[in-house]
Order: sequence, then C-alpha cells, then structure tokens
Amino acid sequence: MSTQYTHDVLIIGGGIAGLSLALRLADRVRVGLIAKGPLTESASLYAQGGIAAVLDNQDSIDAHVEDTLNAGGRLSDPEVVRQVVEHGADSVQWLIDQGVLFTREPGEDGSGGYHLTREGGHSRRRVIHAADATGRAVETTLSERVGAHKNITLYEHHIAVDLITSAKLDLPGNRVLGAYVLDRNSSHVQTFTARSVVLATGGANKVYLYTTNPDVSTGDGIAMAWRAGCRIANMEFIQFHPTCLYHPKAKTFLLTEAIRGEGGKLRLPDGSRFMEQFDKRAELAPRDIVARAIDHEMKCLGIDHVCLDISHKPAEFIRGHFPNIYARCLEYGYDLTAEPVPVVPAAHYTCGGIMTDIHGRTDVDGLYAIGETAHTGLHGANRLASNSLLECLVFAEAASKDIQRAIPQWGLSKHIPPWDESRVTDSDEEVVVSHNWDELRRFMWDYVGIVRTDKRLQRAKRRVDLLNSEIHEYYGNFRVTNDLLELRNLTQVADLIIRSAMQRKESRGLHYTLDYPQTSSEYAHSTILVPDNYQAPAAQIA
Ligand code: FAD
Ligand code: SIN
Repeated sequence: MSTQYTHDVLIIGGGIAGLSLALRLADRVRVGLIAKGPLTESASLYAQGGIAAVLDNQDSIDAHVEDTLNAGGRLSDPEVVRQVVEHGADSVQWLIDQGVLFTREPGEDGSGGYHLTREGGHSRRRVIHAADATGRAVETTLSERVGAHKNITLYEHHIAVDLITSAKLDLPGNRVLGAYVLDRNSSHVQTFTARSVVLATGGANKVYLYTTNPDVSTGDGIAMAWRAGCRIANMEFIQFHPTCLYHPKAKTFLLTEAIRGEGGKLRLPDGSRFMEQFDKRAELAPRDIVARAIDHEMKCLGIDHVCLDISHKPAEFIRGHFPNIYARCLEYGYDLTAEPVPVVPAAHYTCGGIMTDIHGRTDVDGLYAIGETAHTGLHGANRLASNSLLECLVFAEAASKDIQRAIPQWGLSKHIPPWDESRVTDSDEEVVVSHNWDELRRFMWDYVGIVRTDKRLQRAKRRVDLLNSEIHEYYGNFRVTNDLLELRNLTQVADLIIRSAMQRKESRGLHYTLDYPQTSSEYAHSTILVPDNYQAPAAQIA
C-alpha cells in the first residue's frame, strides 16, 4: 500500500546538518525530515573534539583560512573557505542560543570564557567543545527542539530509496519533485513530494572495513544524487583518523585528536616516539600526515598498532577533559591516566561528495546538499580537524536563506507515479547481500586505503564492476530492504572513489600513491565526475 506525503521542504538526514536546517526553516515553511534509523543515530552524535571557529581575540579569520588551505593541499576554494570561517563565531552563537552547553575554562565559575582546545593542523587553540562528547551535546539539544516544533514532521526508520526528478519522469528539465522512501517498519515504499529536497545524509565511510563511523554512513545521498544527474567531486580524498582504539571489541571507538592537542604523544610499542621523523609539527601535523606515518611504521615493523600516551599529564586533567574516553578505555582494560593506549587509523571522513555552490545548491534544480555528503570546496584534499561540524552549520544557514528566497517560485508536482513493486518478489538469498557487503569493505580497505598504487586500484575496479552488475540484477528482481539499498549505494560510491583515485596521478593530501609519490601542478584541481544523465541546471553552480 503506497501513501503520498507532501511537505514544502523534505530534508533527508537527521545529523547536525539536517537538524540545523530544519530549525532554521521551520518558522516559515512546513518541513518533513526523514532519518533511516532513530533520529539521533548519525556521525554527528559521535563527534568528540569540537567545532573550529575564531572565538579568541588572539586568533584571526586569516589564520583559520590559512590553516584550512594548508591542510587541504591548496585544493580548497578560497572563497568558500573564507565564507565558512567568517560565519564560524555566529554559528557557534546560534548553537549556544539553542541551548548547547559548551565547556567553560577550567577553574572558572561559569562566568568566564569557553575553553578552546587544539587539534592537528591548527596554528591556534580554536576548537570549542562540550568535554569530549561535543556531537552528543549538539545533536541531543537540536533533536529535542526539532521534535517540539509544530512545523516539522519527523519520519524515523525511513530510508530514502531514490530521488524523483522531472527528467526521470520524462518531463522537461531536471527538477527535483520528491523522493521514494522505504518505511522500514511496514516495508512499504512511500512517495514524498516537496517543493525542495535537501540531502543531509552524511558520509560514505562504511565503505571501508575499519571506520570510526556508525552504520548509517553509507553514502546514500551521494549515490542518489549521482543517479539523479549531479556531478560528484574529489571522492579520492577519504580521511583516515589516526587514532582509534585497537581492541577486538572496540573497532570503531575514536580517541579524539584533542588528546594530542593537549600534549598526547604517539609511541611505538617499545615506548619511542616517531612523529618528529615525519613532520616538524610531530603529533600536531594534519591528519593525512599522521595517519600515513602510523601506517608506515606498522608496515615497516610488522606491528598491529602504535600507542597514544597522555599519562604524563595529571590524572585529574585527563579525567576532566576526556571523561567519556577515559571511562570507555577503562571498560576495555586501559587506564588513560597511567599507560599508553593501543591505537590504529580508520576511515573517518568523506572530503568529496555532491558538488554544490555557496548556497548548497546542486546540479538538479531545487535539490540541495549540505554537511558531509556535499562537496562545497571547503576541504580540498584533506579536511582540517573540527571544520566539518562548522561546515554543517554554515551551509545549513546558507541553504535555508536560499530556499526561503526561492520557494515561492516552486510548485508541487501532482502526478507522481507510486513505487512499482508489481514485478519483484521477496529474496530467498539474503546471503548474497551480506557476502557482498563484506567483500566490498575488505577490498576497499586493502586496495583503496591509506597507500594506493595503480595496480591495487585496477584490482579494486574489476571487483567493484562485478559487484555493481550483480547488485543491479538483484535490485531489479527483489523487494528492496535497508541492507540492499545501502549495499547498492556503497558499491556505487566505491566505484566513484576508485575512478577518482585512478584519475589523480600524483600524491596530494589524503590521496597517496606509491606510483606517483610527488605532488604535481598538473593536478592542482578537483576531480569531477559527470554522470551520463547530467543536464546543466537552470541556476548554474560553480
Ligand atoms: P550525519 O551526522 O552522518 O547524519 C546523516 C543522517 O542522514 C543520519 O540521520 C542518517 O540516518 C541519515 N541518512 C543517511 N542516509 C539516509 C537515507 N538514505 N534515508 C534517510 N536518512 C538517511 N567533525 C568535527 O567537525 N568535529 C569533531 O569533533 C568530529 N568528531 C568526529 C568523531 C567521530 C567518531 C566521527 C564519526 C566523526 C567526527 N566528525 C567531527 C565528523 C562529523 O561528525 C561529521 O562529518 C558530521 O557530523 C556529519 O554531519 P551530517 O549531518 O552531514 O551527517
Ligand atoms: C576528533 O575529535 O579527533 C575528531 C575531530 C574531527 O574529525 O574533526
């Protein structure tokens, strides 16, 4: 049974990008917000370190801009970087106005300033945070406000299957009309129509076997946008976070970069330090350099982890700044105040994504992309730590203004065909899906990871082509499920990552290949993949 739901704006995603946008729009338009799990389950919920912004009078916009451009291998768009950095302080103030409680300077009674921590690649202390669980503080505050707003209708456990566009319905132009959405509880696909649709679906980091990300980060928005005719940029730049707890039962638990910002050292298992041999900023070099150095040491020495050590700091300081991480490590038998803790890198952040302009507009009219799913031009070849939450907030505001300005011109389509399930059956071979999930994530880790070669990329390409054709056939014959949709999207995104990586015949930022270890001026531009069904939008984006 297919039902049709109608809203002015449909937001797909309940992370910090989606929630912020919903709150900024809802006083003026009717918003529908869907999330494929419980509302708060998102990468946003797990963010630890904080939000980078110029909040101290010793700091400057120019310094934050310069740090962002440097970390990004000079591939970021300087105009976008400046716009984001200039809106940092206002965005943080907006969160404070929503009720988010950030950590104050220790020792003060609440009347003093906020504590700013430091992370790799930042030349100053500029990361505002809520202890070591910033994402939880922001996500829970915003989700409570969203839940209480009368103009926002929430659909949890609903996964968007595909966008509905005029081009797909053989109507003129390429305008978004809505989305088909699987209600995971009823297993029916419903039709959502809207004047505008916003993809706030997060990253694609589950494409790797080891990742800091939750299960929802399967690149659905990027795959849906690609199928709808959007250009996708810079997918080769996948960020690996250097320090995840190494423990069989704690595969995805992150140890925030702020630990190194507050003096933590990386050590080999024999206790010696190694980062100074790779970069004069040692543990505070940008993430690409630190992750690669760890990978290098692990491979050279045949060790399965390195160690992160902050035990030289007073125990009270460690428990005060990192209460959740301290408690979590204790559960796994490690005392952060007394000993080094074993760590390994894991896939963390998707720097590339759906190409947007400075308002968050994509190539499809009326379709926006914000947050980690988007490629706005901020991150270039490597994201500066704590710039992601900032980007979510700034682009939520920019998109909200643009949508409010444009919405009176956009109509609602009345003739959208319901989802057709008449020719499919229930699958009797779920094993195909689970097997392909495992295979994909393992070969992406082995062949398209921190260090690449042409040969490894070619191997990965052959495998992803095979998977794509198997999944295409399977998708056409069986009723859609959450796992099948995610696998289809991940496989499509894996293909985009591999193709982008194959095009970049140099090493820059997060893309490092043994075949071309130097940076080349010939490749000082973004990698842009153009789908076969691309049509230049009515409002051209950069
Ligand atoms: P997400 O928060 O990932 O939300 C995506 C939403 O989309 C979810 O609600 C999901 O259910 C929904 N969704 C996805 N696909 C579909 C679909 N098909 N249908 C319906 N819904 C869908 N960045 C910082 O700046 N500072 C930090 O300190 C920091 N720490 C981090 C720590 C960890 C452990 C991790 C994993 C990331 C961290 N990051 C940090 C990165 C940052 O958290 C993310 O980039 C950011 O939160 C992304 O927000 P988002 O709203 O774009 O997406
Ligand atoms: C961290 O706390 O180390 C993560 C920060 C980020 O990904 O920006």
